[in-house]
Amino acid sequence: MRVRVPSPAPRFDFREKHRRTGGRRAAPPTKWLVKNLKVKSWSIFTTRLETISCEITNAISQPFPKSARAAREGGVGGGMPAPPSLLAFVPDKFSMNDRKRNVVVLIGGPSAEHDVSLATGRVILNALDKTKYNLTPVTINKDRKWLLPPPDRKFLSGDENKEEKSLVALETGNAIDKLKSERGADVVFIAMHGTYGEDGTVQGFLEMAGVPYTGSGILASALAMDKLKSSELFLFHGLKVPKYLNFSNKQWNKGKDKITTEMNEKISLPCVIKPSNCGSSVGITIVRKIDDLENAVQLAFSYDDIVLAQEYISGMEVTCAVLDEGGDKEPIALPPMQIIPKDSEFFDYHAKYTPGATEEITPPRLPAEIIKKIQENALQVHKIIGCSGMSRTDMIVSENDIFVLETNTIPGMTETSLYPQAAAAVGISFPELLDKIIQSAINRNQA
Ligand SMILES: Nc1ncnc2c1ncn2[C@@H]1O[C@H](COP(=O)(O)OP(=O)(O)OP(=O)(O)O)[C@@H](O)[C@H]1O
Ligand SMILES: [Mg+2]
Repeated sequence: MRVRVPSPAPRFDFREKHRRTGGRRAAPPTKWLVKNLKVKSWSIFTTRLETISCEITNAISQPFPKSARAAREGGVGGGMPAPPSLLAFVPDKFSMNDRKRNVVVLIGGPSAEHDVSLATGRVILNALDKTKYNLTPVTINKDRKWLLPPPDRKFLSGDENKEEKSLVALETGNAIDKLKSERGADVVFIAMHGTYGEDGTVQGFLEMAGVPYTGSGILASALAMDKLKSSELFLFHGLKVPKYLNFSNKQWNKGKDKITTEMNEKISLPCVIKPSNCGSSVGITIVRKIDDLENAVQLAFSYDDIVLAQEYISGMEVTCAVLDEGGDKEPIALPPMQIIPKDSEFFDYHAKYTPGATEEITPPRLPAEIIKKIQENALQVHKIIGCSGMSRTDMIVSENDIFVLETNTIPGMTETSLYPQAAAAVGISFPELLDKIIQSAINRNQA
């Protein structure tokens, strides 16, 4: 077999370059890289090299397949370990457990929670340990375009509009293949909320590409996003949910009088009108006067075609996070938190994302047995929906009843968000929490 030998790298004084770059790695000139190695930059080349080395390590540390051994020995039998001489060629740096992982962080998306996702993404990118991970942020804009920074630019500046000009647009259909081949994506951290990123859509896309991703799978993501379907499941499993009525846009337009009468009989005022599929309290109104119903319903329909009218539960609002590392570890419920919006009627968008607008008390001022019950509910919801990695279930405690409102499979992850606060309450720092979530994605993929 003829092997094409690349022309030797042009000579240049590495010591001189080393001195000039203040000790940073000296890279060969781009022209030489493009011509001989068909890569645009030194960093792409080294990332590819790492990925190939890992694949070799992985392959040769596997036992030989049965058929190979059977062929050699003329009989049946299991695999045998790879010859030690081969393993000796693999530097320790590339052992699968220790090597730096290539993590693609997906940010943004077309949902009503685009801006919240940008905040979550930025905080995650800052907090992930750079000694453990090579990070590639991918921003998905509201038109569903996947935007990738050039290889020498690792982080977003924070100004999305300014940023977009320097980002490379990937064709959605082969975005993941590109990320796999060019950035050696080992795992995708989904830092998106709401439809598209949290409802199973992106999860399905990543399943098709065979890339591990953080959080829940397709079905659990879709069920958790759909408040109507998840409420039906919660009821089926004996959990309490606020009484509700659901109707589509078409049903409302055809028979709003009938629906209003039914609503009066079943729920009465005040009631809560919300889109079945949304988050961050977007599209939610508490209706206290019947005259406000039409506007509330129209607002909810602007986010989803199915609307829920729920009984208003007056009581103490709490939320409980579940951490599910996978592997041989059982999911655990973190300490619940009490939520007290300071100047909002309910835990609305303003109360959620304005620093200082909400007081959180961990654990809630409730008897120990109620706290335990809240944690049991959160674990039960996590299991009923079939979540992985993480979930955060919102509930209202009214007298001695606990009503489940909904569960979030990708809860807000800014440092002031509820989920990281609950983890901090049991001594898990934010970077450690992110490590666990990534590990859980890897464990799920290996199961
Ligand atoms: N039935 C109800 N009774 C009283 N308050 C409610 C009810 N439903 C919702 N709320 C209020 O509205 C907020 C948002 O409701 P919910 O959690 O159902 O929606 P969401 O937009 O999916 O939230 P998230 O940001 O957690 O995804 C609750 O935190 C609570 O303050
Ligand atoms: Mg909620």
